[in-house]
Amino acid sequence: MKLGINKWADSPFGKNVSNKSSFFIHNLSFAESYDSISLQTILPTILSITPKLQILKRYYLCPMHIDILTVLPELLESPFRHSMMKRAQEKGILSIAVHGLRKWAVNEYGQIDDYQYGGGAGMVMMCEPLAKAIEELSQQRKFDEIIYMTPDGNTLNQKTVNNLSLKENLLIICGHYKGIDQRIRDHFVTREISIGDYVLSGGELAAAILVDAVGRVIPGVLNDETSALTDSFQDNLLAPPVYTRPEDFRGWKVPDALMSGDHKKIDEWRLEQAIQRTKDRRPDIMNE
Ligand code: ADE
Repeated sequence: MKLGINKWADSPFGKNVSNKSSFFIHNLSFAESYDSISLQTILPTILSITPKLQILKRYYLCPMHIDILTVLPELLESPFRHSMMKRAQEKGILSIAVHGLRKWAVNEYGQIDDYQYGGGAGMVMMCEPLAKAIEELSQQRKFDEIIYMTPDGNTLNQKTVNNLSLKENLLIICGHYKGIDQRIRDHFVTREISIGDYVLSGGELAAAILVDAVGRVIPGVLNDETSALTDSFQDNLLAPPVYTRPEDFRGWKVPDALMSGDHKKIDEWRLEQAIQRTKDRRPDIMNE
């Protein structure tokens, strides 16, 4: 466990911030990799014996900062102002800064794009504004990942989301027009992410999806941290069906198992349903 002085010494968590891997003390299989496992290895056992010590978890949270570079900052004004993203920021677990790329434009007209070499329709986002922006922001913090949102990137899945939620500083670049100059991808970008096999008019909505998916699995963001673990795709299963009151709606009844009050039975029913649903709808993820 690494404790001590770090750049979050002034954060709400003070000096009690360990490395990010401590985040996933409650599920060691959550992330692709860990820096250290000593604390994580013993803490679940301690917590299962003495649930009151859940409070310990608070001392091992460390906030994540996400910078987003975009030509349309207005598009990202709303998505992070509500619900969980809002709560995460209020709690100091997550901070998000949206930067308008035109601040680094090549001229007073705010130019950030140009025609593509070789001809063809569509503009390309120029190297200079992007390079300057990345370099300036990199002076403020060391980015663990510089992510470019692009339809030709790796398709986003829960494993990548979990992995990214262990990082401390992310920079996300939203593409527009025909995309960004390849040299920025070659020399600055560390990850390229697509949110699916379709093309959006820009990377902003894709970035909002990525931030939401990553932000909500940072422990402390959800009210009940364990609820992220019962989401679809954790453990390569879709979530089972859920029901709420009334018990009988138009003659459509809640399954008996859920009404039994027998937790073992309920857990078994949920697992069966999750397996069946996954077999029916997404057999591909069961073998991942
Ligand atoms: N930009 C445009 N389409 C995209 C997609 N599918 N994923 C990520 N970024 C994008």
